[in-house]
Order: sequence, then C-alpha cells, then structure tokens
Amino acid sequence: MPKLQGRRAAITGAASGIGRGIAMAFAAEGARVAVLDRDGVAAERVAAEIIAAGGEAIALSCDVADEASVEAAFAELRAAFGAADILVNNAGVLRDVPFEDMTIAEWDRVMGVNLRGAFLCTRQVVPAMKAQGWGRILNTASQLAHKGAAELTHYVASKAGLIGFTRALAHELARDGITVNAIAPGIIETAMSANVPPEVKARVAEKLPIGRFGRVDEITGAAVLLASDEGSYFVGATVDVNGGDVM
Ligand SMILES: NC(=O)c1ccc[n+]([C@@H]2O[C@H](COP(=O)([O-])OP(=O)(O)OC[C@H]3O[C@@H](n4cnc5c(N)ncnc54)[C@H](O)[C@@H]3O)[C@@H](O)[C@H]2O)c1
Repeated sequence: MPKLQGRRAAITGAASGIGRGIAMAFAAEGARVAVLDRDGVAAERVAAEIIAAGGEAIALSCDVADEASVEAAFAELRAAFGAADILVNNAGVLRDVPFEDMTIAEWDRVMGVNLRGAFLCTRQVVPAMKAQGWGRILNTASQLAHKGAAELTHYVASKAGLIGFTRALAHELARDGITVNAIAPGIIETAMSANVPPEVKARVAEKLPIGRFGRVDEITGAAVLLASDEGSYFVGATVDVNGGDVM
C-alpha cells in the first residue's frame, strides 16, 4: 500500500531541487500533489513529469512571500483538491552577504520567503486540517540553523526561526491530529548549492564524516515518513539529514 494514498499535498518551491524531489516522491506514494513555485513555468514542467510517471499533480504559480499570491494559489488548490492534508514549506532563498553589507531589503527578502512564507502558507491549510482531525506540516530548515555560517545572518536567522515556528505550532496543533516537523538538510546537490566553486566543495565535502554532499533522494525518504501515518509520533521534531556534519 502506497504510504500517502489518497492524501493531497501542497509543496512550495517544488519546481526545483529538494521540493521537486519531495513532490515526485509523494506522488509515487499515491498523493495528489500541488507543485507551488514562484517559477510557474518550471512548476508546470514538474507537474507534467509527475503525470507522465502516472501520478496526479497540478502546478500553481505562487510567491510565498506575497499574501495575495498565496491566497490566490491556495484558492486554486481548494478548487482542485478541496483541501490540503499535507503542506511542505520548502521554498527558500540564499545569497551570501557580509553582515555589514546586508541591506534591509536583502534581509526582508530572505526572511520573507523562508519564514513569512511558511506562516502565510500554513495559515491557509490549518483550518481544514483541524476540521478533519488529520494533517502534516513539514518545514525545510537547514543544518545551518544549528551551526551558523558567516555571511548568512539572514538565512540562518530565518531557518532557526523556522525551527522555532515548527516547535511552537507543533505544541498548538498536536491534539488536533496535526503534526508539525522540520527537516534540516546538510549540503545537498541542487541549484542552491551549484554556485559553490568545485575546490571549495571538495574541501567542505572532505570534512564531512560521510565525505560527500547529499543527494535529493537522500532527503525525500524522511519527508515521506514525516508526511505519512507512520510518522504520527514525530511532533515538533527537527530531523537532521546531513551526512554527519552536525551530531
Ligand atoms: N541545497 C542545500 O544544500 C540545502 C541545504 C539546507 C536547506 N536547504 C533548503 O531546502 C529548500 C530547497 O532548496 P533547494 O536546494 O532545493 O533550492 P532550489 O533553488 O533548487 O529550489 C528552491 C525553489 O524555491 C523556489 N522559490 C524561491 N523563492 C520562492 C518564492 N518566493 N515563492 C515560491 N517559490 C520560491 C525557486 O523558484 C526554486 O524552485 C530551501 O528552503 C533551502 O533553504 C537546501
């Protein structure tokens, strides 16, 4: 029996990288998937890939930092699916900026996508999850929330904030049958990590206990577990999937 049979999942930032991987994995486990992304064309491509593989998917163009855009996308989702049983707040942005060069606009942009976006999307799905007494909310944090990293004060603060958001909301919703958890990936080979120069990559990878960066398919198993009935006793957890970088 597929683990997510009959579930309706909304995944943000699902046009690429980890979000795309989670969307494909959820669909393979029987979920109907809404692929939400700021890049609507790429979201359409991922939805088409899922359908070609025999799954069910729709693409929704959505800027998670923008309230009106989020409202419109989730209205479309409700029209198509009725509601979402699973939400993955995965959309995220990152750009290295030394602290003294950090503009308020840059700070707000990263916090807006990575943290405000999770708040805006989550408030769209909680009422229906509560009404049915079942829901799963997953937030893609980062191991950098544990470690910190130079030139990423905005990103690290947003991801640490997302872990706090996860714990607080988990407290509030656990008795309604809704679990809220986070996954904190280490460095995973995606577009986000693609601009790291190869020599820097090799140096960083060498220091990891596992000796290499992670693949998207090494994150998706944790997401399926947390989104499924089998994950029912994970409440407010941050699942570290990082090749041993933080333990
Ligand atoms: N790749 C890594 O090493 C790594 C490590 C830890 C955490 N993460 C986190 O994983 C998540 C996914 O990252 P990835 O590596 O797959 O990156 P990615 O760049 O491949 O994918 C991010 C996706 O988010 C979308 N997006 C960006 N801003 C958006 C917005 N405002 N509204 C909607 N969609 C938006 C992008 O269009 C893109 O499709 C992010 O939250 C990231 O912070 C990544």
